[in-house]
Amino acid sequence: MAYNHKKHIDLGLECGFCHTGIAEGKPRAGLPPLEICASCHSGEDENPRTQVVREYVSKGEPIPWRRIYTVPKHVYFSHLRHAGLAKLDCALCHGDMPRTEKPVTKPAVAISMDRCIDCHKQRGVTQDCLACHR
Ligand code: HEC
Ligand code: HEC
Ligand code: HEC
Ligand code: HEC
Ligand code: HEC
Repeated sequence: MAYNHKKHIDLGLECGFCHTGIAEGKPRAGLPPLEICASCHSGEDENPRTQVVREYVSKGEPIPWRRIYTVPKHVYFSHLRHAGLAKLDCALCHGDMPRTEKPVTKPAVAISMDRCIDCHKQRGVTQDCLACHR
């Protein structure tokens, strides 16, 4: 599906409205469940650009989103720590999503151990192996 972040963020929706783990203070941000899309895309609308999402909604079939950002199983990462407590801007790790019009196909900022540790050094956060490898 040609999902368009810019169009939806321009409506005034917060990231945590769809990535509900952010609003709920969980480690995972999460990808949006169908009910969130259904709250706006289940009406009688004739818009050809939203036809694909209305079809999923009317069949009640979850949209198979592809996850792009992941860390390996041996690494612990928490959005609550980084976006919640430390109040880091999403853009530091995910690029300029409010202006992104195409689906995310590759990470805007690559995830690597060096990058995690560089920022931890700069901000005086732990570099203990066992903080990240639990
Ligand atoms: C708060 C209401 C709202 C929610 C929630 C919402 N949308 Fe939309 N969506 C809109 C509006 C308004 C448009 C603009 C329609 C247009 O420009 O023709 C739109 C446009 C779209 C389009 C067409 C994009 C384009 O470039 O023209 C797609 C596809 C879409 N939405 C999918 C989704 C999906 C998938 C979800 C759930 C993750 C979702 N929407 C959640 C209101 C919403
Ligand atoms: C310090 C870097 C960093 C910041 C800041 C950050 N993220 Fe992430 N994000 C990540 C990493 C790393 C992953 C992969 C996590 C995993 O595999 O568990 C990820 C994964 C995601 C995913 C994929 C789904 C998921 O649950 O893993 C979404 C969506 C996401 N982030 C949204 C956000 C939003 C929205 C914000 C701001 C409120 C944000 N992120 C802030 C690093 C960050
Ligand atoms: C209306 C719902 C909606 C809003 C609001 C929204 N997103 Fe998303 N986001 C999605 C959907 C749907 C996907 C999966 C499709 C895609 O990757 O384009 C996604 C994917 C992502 C991903 C890629 C995750 C992965 O690993 O595949 C990131 C990062 C992300 N969003 C960040 C943000 C940030 C940052 C904000 C706020 C500035 C935001 N999103 C606001 C619906 C939303
Ligand atoms: C842009 C800066 C930045 C990046 C990039 C970053 N972090 Fe962090 N990290 C922080 C900050 C700031 C904190 C302290 C948060 C708080 O106040 O609790 C933190 C805290 C943590 C903690 C908790 C540490 C403790 O004391 O228990 C873990 C675990 C962690 N980060 C893992 C990661 C991993 C894994 C990555 C890479 C995938 C990463 N971080 C990338 C800034 C960053
Ligand atoms: C701030 C978080 C963080 C800290 C601290 C950290 N790592 Fe990592 N480490 C990561 C991430 C994220 C990856 C996965 C990178 C990737 O997928 O490219 C990783 C990957 C690895 C790997 C696998 C390398 C590979 O090629 O797959 C090893 C081994 C490793 N770390 C060992 C260590 C050791 C030893 C320490 C302590 C000296 C340490 N790490 C400290 C975040 C961290």
